[in-house]
Amino acid sequence: MSFSHRMRQWHRVLSLAFTLAVVANLGAMMIPGSPQWIGFLALAPLLPLLATGIYLFILPHRRRGLAARETKDPMTQEGFQTTGRSKRRGAIGSRRPG
Ligand code: HEM
Repeated sequence: MSFSHRMRQWHRVLSLAFTLAVVANLGAMMIPGSPQWIGFLALAPLLPLLATGIYLFILPHRRRGLAARETKDPMTQEGFQTTGRSKRRGAIGSRRPG
């Protein structure tokens, strides 16, 4: 199992824990005199949820960057980017006739 797959699974499990904590919080709000710490219960899964969520967010951008770096120009054997701007010589976007 790859690291990114494990991160996705963690994000899913944490989202479940977060949802349960929010439900517990709402339940506690209905009961007078319930302890205040229940309100902070949702923060415990929320922080790693944010970390794994940011990782999942940058994953496609990171993959695109790696793929572009691994792609070689058949003429120059230099790496070139298939998307976005590139200042390197041999990049598709910067090739001029002649
Ligand atoms: C805290 C900030 C959060 C960030 C930055 C974040 C970000 C993301 C990203 C980038 C994805 C992947 C989307 C994709 O690949 O199409 C994702 C998936 C998901 N997120 Fe979050 N998320 C956050 C919080 C939450 C919360 C609060 C919940 C629910 C309580 C949640 C539930 C999910 C679920 C169920 C998935 C699908 C996971 C899977 O592929 O199985 N996320 N999230």
